[in-house]
Amino acid sequence: METIIENELVRELANKHGRTRDSLLPILQDLVVRNRYLSRQDMVDVARELDISAADVFGTATFYSFLDTEVRGKYVIRICKTISCAMKGKNDVLTTIEETLKIRVGETSSDRKFSLLETNCIGWCHKAPAMLINDTPYTELTPEKVTEILREYIKK
Ligand code: FES
Repeated sequence: METIIENELVRELANKHGRTRDSLLPILQDLVVRNRYLSRQDMVDVARELDISAADVFGTATFYSFLDTEVRGKYVIRICKTISCAMKGKNDVLTTIEETLKIRVGETSSDRKFSLLETNCIGWCHKAPAMLINDTPYTELTPEKVTEILREYIKK
């Protein structure tokens, strides 16, 4: 007989959000908030809890770039790569971030403090270029401004 190890957190979130197909996204979002990423095991456990296929859960998780399926740093920087930001100097800002933190897009610093990702438009085009650090937006970025912002996070 298969031994199933209960995943208390998944169960708790299913109790909170329900066990229908519509519950999938809020459960995955909460798991990312709690664990900072979605582990394979959590996705399998969510599938079991909602009685849907694991492929369905993996598909949803990988479709939404905000649902991380890898371990990320304490501070996840998502710089917008869409056209308004690109035209307003996003590349210079990105280069400054990479040089300051010594990581490239897609990487996490060795102390697990920062991850650097690109994202599609985050809705701040009128104040481009923009980025998020976790849930906090930073706009009208310049290399100087982003250096200041990162300095504060490095100190934390
Ligand atoms: S294009 Fe960058 S925030 Fe919209």
